[in-house]
Parts: sequence; structure tokens; C-alpha cells
Amino acid sequence: MKGIILAGGSGTRLYPITEGISKQLMPIYDKPMIFYPISVLMLADIRDILIITTPEDRPRFEQLLGDGSKFGINLSYAIQPEPRGLADAFIVGEKFLNGEACAMILGDNIFYGNGFTKLLANARDNAESGYATNFGFRVHDPERFGIMELDEENNIISVEEKPSVPKSDFAVTGLYFYPAGVSELAKQVKPSDRGEIEITTLNDMYLQAGKLKGELLGGGFCWFDTGTFDSQMDAAALIRALETNQSRILACLEQIAFDRGWITRDQLAERAKLCRKNKYGEFLTKVLEDAR
Ligand code: DAU
Repeated sequence: MKGIILAGGSGTRLYPITEGISKQLMPIYDKPMIFYPISVLMLADIRDILIITTPEDRPRFEQLLGDGSKFGINLSYAIQPEPRGLADAFIVGEKFLNGEACAMILGDNIFYGNGFTKLLANARDNAESGYATNFGFRVHDPERFGIMELDEENNIISVEEKPSVPKSDFAVTGLYFYPAGVSELAKQVKPSDRGEIEITTLNDMYLQAGKLKGELLGGGFCWFDTGTFDSQMDAAALIRALETNQSRILACLEQIAFDRGWITRDQLAERAKLCRKNKYGEFLTKVLEDAR
């Protein structure tokens, strides 16, 4: 199973900040935004990851993340010259996917909640047995999102992109799992009225074929689409509170990798040394000591 992080886009909603830096490289409290989606793919046991960026930002992502080996993963990079739509990720990433099943996550989406790893494992199983999975989260402003309509048993019965009259309050979050062959289907998606190859159209294709499953992220979950000043502040405040309260670092790529045996003690020690002047490094040192 492969993973794609879509981290392009024009960033105009965050101007003037994003005139000089890609949104996904900005901090959410104590780490770059992109660490959060990378951590989700790692928790889904996905180690082959493609990061799709703009031509200008690609070198900066490479400087930050390299080939991924410091996090026990294999990172490759691709360029999306223009923001043609979310489903374009599977066209840009066609060669990388090589026909395999995959998960795709937006570079500005942050997830937190108990039992998330289990939900990820279920979605992975679905993808490996031919089903796509969308994750729903209840929002107060459904007209801003892709929306899933559900029946009494929480089966998805419709998906719509930013409807003016939403059929439910459940947003389709920016994390999607697809079975083998998603690039072929993405190529059949016709551009929408706003000229984008919509992921919602792709999801509807799976729905019409009886191949779309929905997982709801319930009350114990938090989800942020950190595309606005306020949502970034809200996400940062939550991460800070949780990390202080739980005495740990969330979305800590080195710790996730070390727990899974993807990096060695020496690699972890090197990272702890690099970050030794702050809480991130202290946490890595503690992970090392606890593993003695
Ligand atoms: O966050 C969840 C929502 O994401 C879903 O509920 C919607 O169905 C889905 O369309 C999307 O809505 P947004 O309005 O948030 O999409 P946006 O155009 O802002 O793109 C999301 C991120 O993906 C953003 O950080 C920029 C990046 N992007 C976007 C496009 C269209 C790309 O890298 N390439 C693109 O072509």
C-alpha cells in the first residue's frame, strides 16, 4: 500500500504569509504542518510516500524531509504545476502508484483521536479488498466541505462537493483510501464548473459502483482543515494542550518510526541530539531511555 500527500495549491487564502512559504511547511505549534499527515500515513503502516508540491516549494520540502530515511520511510516527490483539483493527485502520482492501492491525505489536514490506528487498519483492509473509504466528521459549516449523506446504518448514500443545501453535517475529511486502479478512474473525472478534477466526483464513481465505505470520526475525535488563520491557531492550541497534559509529543515521526522498528537507536539518538534545545528533543531522549 502506498501513500500520497497533496501539498500543493496556491495558498492565496493565507496571503501574505504564504507569499514566502508553503502553507504545509508552516508550524502547527512545535512541528511543521506536514508532519501531521505524514504521521497518519505512518500509523496506517504506509512507508512508501509521494509528496506532491509546487515547483517552487519542492526543494524546501526536500530540505526538511530528505529521502525520509531519518523517519524510517521512503519519500519521493512530484510536482503539480497548477492546482488542477484533488483527484489530479492520482494522475500526477500514476507512475509512483504503479497500479497499487493507496491512501491520499491533504497536507493541511490534522487528525487526532483514540482508536484512529484501528480505523486506519480497517480502511487499509477495505482498499486491499476493492473498496474506497471516506472519513466523515460532523461540522457546523457543511457548505464549506465535501458532504456525505448517510442512511440509518451509516452507509454513504450520496456525496456532494460544497453543496449550498447540504444533506447532512458530515464533512468528507481530507483522508481517502482507494483500491488498486484509482489513477485509471481519476483520468475519467471531468472538470467541474470551477474547473477542478474533484475528488468528490471520484468518490461518487466508487459509490455508484457500490465500492465506497464510510467511517465516522465520532465525538472523541478532532479534525482540522488548517487552511485559515483561525483553524491554524485552534489546531496549535489543541496540540499544545494535549501534549502538555499527556507529557508527550503528538505526530512525532521519529517516535512512531522507532516504535515500529523502522529506525535504530542510533538514528533516534541523532535526532534527539539535533532537537536537544527544546521539548521535542527531550521527548525523543525520553523515548530512548524508556526503551532501555
Ligand atoms: O479538507 C477537506 C475538504 O478538502 C473536503 O471536504 C472537500 O471535499 C475537498 O474538496 C477539499 O476542499 P477544500 O476547499 O479544502 O480544498 P482546497 O482546494 O482548499 O484544497 C485542499 C488542499 O489541497 C490545499 O491545502 C491545497 C491542496 N491542493 C488543492 C488543489 C485543488 C493541491 O495541492 N492541489 C490542488 O490541485
